[in-house]
Amino acid sequence: MLDFDYGYFSAVYRRQQPLSTIPWRALSPAASRPVPGGGVRPMTNTGAPSTPLAKTIVLIGLMGAGKSSIGRRLAKRFAMKFADADDEVAKAAGCSIEDIFETYGEAAFRDGERKVIFRLLDGEPRVLATGGGAFMDPLTRARITERGISIWLRADLDILVRRTHRRGGRPLLKNTDQRATLAALIDERYGVYAEADIVVDTSDESAEKTTERVLKAIGAFLKAAPAAGRMP
Ligand code: S3P
Repeated sequence: MLDFDYGYFSAVYRRQQPLSTIPWRALSPAASRPVPGGGVRPMTNTGAPSTPLAKTIVLIGLMGAGKSSIGRRLAKRFAMKFADADDEVAKAAGCSIEDIFETYGEAAFRDGERKVIFRLLDGEPRVLATGGGAFMDPLTRARITERGISIWLRADLDILVRRTHRRGGRPLLKNTDQRATLAALIDERYGVYAEADIVVDTSDESAEKTTERVLKAIGAFLKAAPAAGRMP
């Protein structure tokens, strides 16, 4: 059984891995304390913030939308840390996302995903790429809304099919008609993703260009609603 509640994120699983081998430091909030106070930081003359923000930037969207790739670039631009929620869940569990789904089931994955995201949102503001299902969880969504600035990277079906085809390791797409599965997920999820603070359409343009557009969108969002950039 997976136990994401033990300590911070220890995993107790069938192989009986000794707890001492679990990467406590990487996951412990003590290693990354929140920055005090913090309003909206200075903007560059392009309108895009250039220094760390007071809230975590949370990227949401379907598999293949580019959350990790854009997220890493955004983190560099803001001089903030980057975290990929799937990687953090895998680290906490000590096994891959595929193995978690296969061995423990999707419910265990969702439970761990929620806990990991809560912990990350409680720590130092950063850029966080979430897994495609994370924002669908009402508790996770509420916490992201409270402590983060959510950005939906919206992509059309053809793009998602092309991009997910290139990379495996996604249990929901394994042994399925990927196009049909992604189309069903679009129907189910896009109405909820639309609750994000910011929506940016992604296309076949380069990741650098999309990153520039995301930066501009963040700048415009904070200019229109400065209070949204401050922690509650
Ligand atoms: C999922 C998306 C995946 C991963 C898991 C479930 C989903 O993340 O969290 O396989 O429910 O859409 P990516 O969106 O990063 O591929």
